[in-house]
Amino acid sequence: MCGIVGYVGAQQAAPLLVEGLTRLEHRGYDSAGVAVLGSRLQVTKKAGRVRDLSEALPKRLAGKVGIGHTRWATHGPATDTNAHPHTDTSGTVAVVHNGIVDNAAALRARLVADGVELASDTDTEVFAHLVARSGADTLEGKVVEALGQVEGTYGLAVVHADFPDRVVVARHGSPLLIGVGEKEMFIASDLAAVVRHTTTVAHLDDGELATVTAGGFTTFRHDLTRTTTQASAVDIDPSAFEHGDVSGEPRMYTEILEQPASVERTLRGRLDERFGTAHLGGLDMDARDLRAFRRVKILGCGSAYYVGQMGASMIEELARVPADAEPASEFRYRNPIIEPDTLYVAVSQSGETVDTLLAVEEIRRKGGRVIGLVNVVGSAIARACDGGIYLHAGPEIAVASTKALTTMFVGFSLLALQLGRVRDLSVADGRRLVNGLQRLPAQIEEILKTEDHIADIARDLADAESMFFVGRVRGYPVAREGAQKLKEITYRHAEAYPTSELKHGPLALISPKVPTVAIVPADELTDRNVAALHEIDARGGPLVIVTHPEVDLGDLHARRIDVPRNETELDPVLLTVPLQLLAYHASVHLGLDVDKPRNLAKSVTVE
Ligand code: AGP
Repeated sequence: MCGIVGYVGAQQAAPLLVEGLTRLEHRGYDSAGVAVLGSRLQVTKKAGRVRDLSEALPKRLAGKVGIGHTRWATHGPATDTNAHPHTDTSGTVAVVHNGIVDNAAALRARLVADGVELASDTDTEVFAHLVARSGADTLEGKVVEALGQVEGTYGLAVVHADFPDRVVVARHGSPLLIGVGEKEMFIASDLAAVVRHTTTVAHLDDGELATVTAGGFTTFRHDLTRTTTQASAVDIDPSAFEHGDVSGEPRMYTEILEQPASVERTLRGRLDERFGTAHLGGLDMDARDLRAFRRVKILGCGSAYYVGQMGASMIEELARVPADAEPASEFRYRNPIIEPDTLYVAVSQSGETVDTLLAVEEIRRKGGRVIGLVNVVGSAIARACDGGIYLHAGPEIAVASTKALTTMFVGFSLLALQLGRVRDLSVADGRRLVNGLQRLPAQIEEILKTEDHIADIARDLADAESMFFVGRVRGYPVAREGAQKLKEITYRHAEAYPTSELKHGPLALISPKVPTVAIVPADELTDRNVAALHEIDARGGPLVIVTHPEVDLGDLHARRIDVPRNETELDPVLLTVPLQLLAYHASVHLGLDVDKPRNLAKSVTVE
């Protein structure tokens, strides 16, 4: 969702701001704008894409200090006026903001009562007026005074015509970082916006502000006392953040193809063949700590929640500890009971999903122990947890998550293995799973080689307005994830059901126009699965079956997609991969924008 960029240095700010905004496009937005501070403060903002903003920029827009923003509409529609930056009435102050001002209505009413004419419908505009009205004599003092009146979350950047050498930034619940260049500084809400210029960055902490000038930055708290946040080099390849690859393929496609390598990275250095276990140093827990947990509760949103379900059943199977997954977005609203002997696990690619972050904060507030399974290093969720497992999937840009999900599964496998081995999982079983995990990259590669066959099936499915995805036990979250992927990028209606539930209702919808994608691994439920699919076949429902080569489908009328078999517990991840390709090729066939599906954002930073 919303993105922030900023620049202070020797170059002209406008082109750098626009370039930074382009690099945040994948996050999802519906308007964009920049404020450039030269001899005066100039603001340009436009509903639509960054290229619309770029076309609207004045030819002469000189200034070496500036801020920019991509907005995802929350308070008020996506219009030029509601786009950020927002200014005060005199046009002296400009502000860009990610997050939500909870008391915006009260602040707006107070400003109006004081005679201020508000230009937009947004919550953000109040910041600009509050900063302008502050009596403090420094920009830092003005920003702190304004923030003192605001309740809510923010990542914020402010420029002021009377303080033309600086940008003041603040963070509370919404990420913000400073990229350090040679006599120039970059500001961004996301590393993707700065990596082309610098990989030396400082992440602000919640409750921290910073003054950024061309020569450097200083960080401080709301009482204006200095803090010691330093910049450090991040170990990242800037090219990994490019949108699309050289061949012009959509980013989702390249991310699907990267999965053997990303899974390998998640596993690197973490497997112990001798003792048949995993080593997860980031958990910061010894065997005794791990044994003390009587329960595991996994929290995530969307696809991360579905992988959480796969993880929960793996943990139950391997560690014999009760485990379940719950949507993080619902969790804290039911006043959850936080138990000291439960291990809470927050799972998130971006590490920014606000619902998951708030669930983590709720758990910690109540004294619970929570670890993160997170891809983005140093992200809000990673920092809010007691410890965790970084996925090392590499930057994921496409809205539809693929490689992050397979690496989440692998992360859960490692956790299940370690939890299992400090309990009753035998060393022989541990070694069996270590070996299975080591086979995964090559097996994913094998599945990717069947792409043409899957693409062929996808073209047929793409024309159906509605379809089912079904599976049982381990296969059910796979079905949910398959339906989710298809919905996201094809806008087709897809509903996931446990195969066993079909006859309790949805079977009424089965017809030649409603295909079903069924997950049928070779396991203890294969025969029952196949029997249930006969009920679909008998009603003329087209079937696509994702299965293992040894499964005999008898006389079922179905198209099959075979995946290689691994250890039963690890099969779900391999069954998931063809469903990514299925959704991808259906979307391409329909001529849709695979990487930027309508209405969706990569990082969901509002509740
Ligand atoms: C996945 O394809 C989706 N775009 C979405 O469900 C996503 O998994 C969810 O929003 C959670 O994101 P996170 O992993 O960054 O927390």
